[in-house]
Amino acid sequence: MSQEGQDPSAEQFKEMFLMDFSKKMKRFRLFEPSLGILGFCLVAVCVIFGFFLLDYKAVVKGSGFLAQSERLLWLKLDEAADEKRSRKVDFLSEEGGGCNVFEGDWIWDDSYPLYQSKDCSLLDEGFRCSENGRPDVFYTKWRWQPKDCNLPRFDAKIMLDKLRNKRVVFVGDSIGRNQWESFLCMLSSVIPNKGSIYEVNGNPITKHKGFLIFKFKDYNCTVEYFRAPFLVLQSRPPAGAPSNVKTTLKLDQMDWSWLKWRDADVLVLNTGHWWNYEKTIRGGCYFQEGLEVKMDMEVDTAYQKSLQTVLNWVHREVNTSKTQVFFRTYAPVHFRGGDWRNGGHCHLETLPELGSSLVPSNNWAKYNLFTNIVSAHSNMSDVKAVNVLNITHMTSRRKDGHSSLYYLGPNVGPAPPHRQDCSHWCLPGVPDSWNELLYALFLQNENLQLRNRYFGLRHDS
Ligand SMILES: *[C@@H]1O[C@H](CO)[C@@H](O)[C@H](O)[C@H]1NC(C)=O
Ligand SMILES: *[C@@H]1O[C@H](CO)[C@@H](O)[C@H](O)[C@H]1NC(C)=O
Ligand SMILES: *[C@@H]1O[C@H](CO)[C@@H](O)[C@H](O)[C@H]1NC(C)=O
Ligand SMILES: *[C@@H]1O[C@H](CO)[C@@H](O)[C@H](O)[C@H]1NC(C)=O
Repeated sequence: MSQEGQDPSAEQFKEMFLMDFSKKMKRFRLFEPSLGILGFCLVAVCVIFGFFLLDYKAVVKGSGFLAQSERLLWLKLDEAADEKRSRKVDFLSEEGGGCNVFEGDWIWDDSYPLYQSKDCSLLDEGFRCSENGRPDVFYTKWRWQPKDCNLPRFDAKIMLDKLRNKRVVFVGDSIGRNQWESFLCMLSSVIPNKGSIYEVNGNPITKHKGFLIFKFKDYNCTVEYFRAPFLVLQSRPPAGAPSNVKTTLKLDQMDWSWLKWRDADVLVLNTGHWWNYEKTIRGGCYFQEGLEVKMDMEVDTAYQKSLQTVLNWVHREVNTSKTQVFFRTYAPVHFRGGDWRNGGHCHLETLPELGSSLVPSNNWAKYNLFTNIVSAHSNMSDVKAVNVLNITHMTSRRKDGHSSLYYLGPNVGPAPPHRQDCSHWCLPGVPDSWNELLYALFLQNENLQLRNRYFGLRHDS
């Protein structure tokens, strides 16, 4: 029942939006007179039409104001459809088990966010967008609603109880760190004594550490992050390699640190953002298989081989009766008109993409490489052992959620416009939704295990 958020106050929301709207109009006049106006007016008309319906219906429960044509139609269908919506099965019920939670919509929900960054000390400065001067907060208000079922709302107490005496480990790149910090804040929101959460080696939270382990003392639970942006091993080249080879990525070996996280109870892996020319070959980092440096191997080929290595490693080394392994898929970037070095931007974005069809498909090239590997091995146990946290599509619609200019800290002010961050995410924000999905899948796996154990026992006796 509590799936639906409270009704947003339509008046309040309209006011906020109109403020933002007029700001945006000004910007468009200043910077992009010919390009933006037409498209923007179209969107504006849609949204205003949306408000008309909002007033008319005072917001159908939690459905937000998405002006998607489908939804408008749906709104008109009124009570019947409304009822159908709330009658969706719960994902954690037996009938909900087969639901694809990754297919759905972003829904405005005034009961979000789940925490405020100023109340959470376990956050890098770089993710504290509000405190760093980001003026809008819309991006914190969207809840992910699967098409065919309802997710459980994140309950930190339930999660902590389940994690008692356990280890949760995130391994990957800085987007993985983004998700890890989100998870820390989501959990810590129910801990009154913040001093009972601490880094076991006394290190402050910062991007400059190889690993950080936070302990929730009352639960004897740790939530850890290991930096391994490629997941496979990057180290010195073999003897006799050409002199332009500074390092190599061993595509058939996991990162050195794997022994430290193999036995975690929950393992959340990701890799993708570093698999490009700039972060590898241009810096003298080539690819190696066995003892051989593959001077001509392309980055995408290497990426696929590394993914296979990760899956093989899970199969060979991880006890999946104990460890729930998740692979989080690629989180799209949203640079427009360039990339991070030459003026790519996202900081005018304050709303999600209204329909998935509007998202450019080059947003998920890396994701497609991953699905190639998965589908090529879909009948094999190394793939089945891994839960795919398939967030690429849903995330591709969230061009509004990035740190953009607001990653430099409260005393520094916004970054210059040509140095925008359209890869990382503001917190609270989009990674919270990934963690809500992680939560739902984790609970589902736990339930299944309990059920199996119960029936297993009955069978034995
Ligand atoms: C991931 O989710 C998208 C959107 O629902 C779907 O189209 C795609 O097939 C899914 N991929 C995998 C590997 O589950
Ligand atoms: C705390 O959790 C660890 C596993 O992370 C376990 O090995 C240890 O026995 C637990 N300590 C207590 C006092 O339960
Ligand atoms: C795998 O984990 C389960 C559950 O913790 C345990 O009972 C089993 O002995 C483990 N298997 C191996 C091979 O360690
Ligand atoms: C998986 O399917 C492929 C073809 O679809 C087949 O060649 C392969 O032998 C199968 N592997 C297993 C372990 O069943």
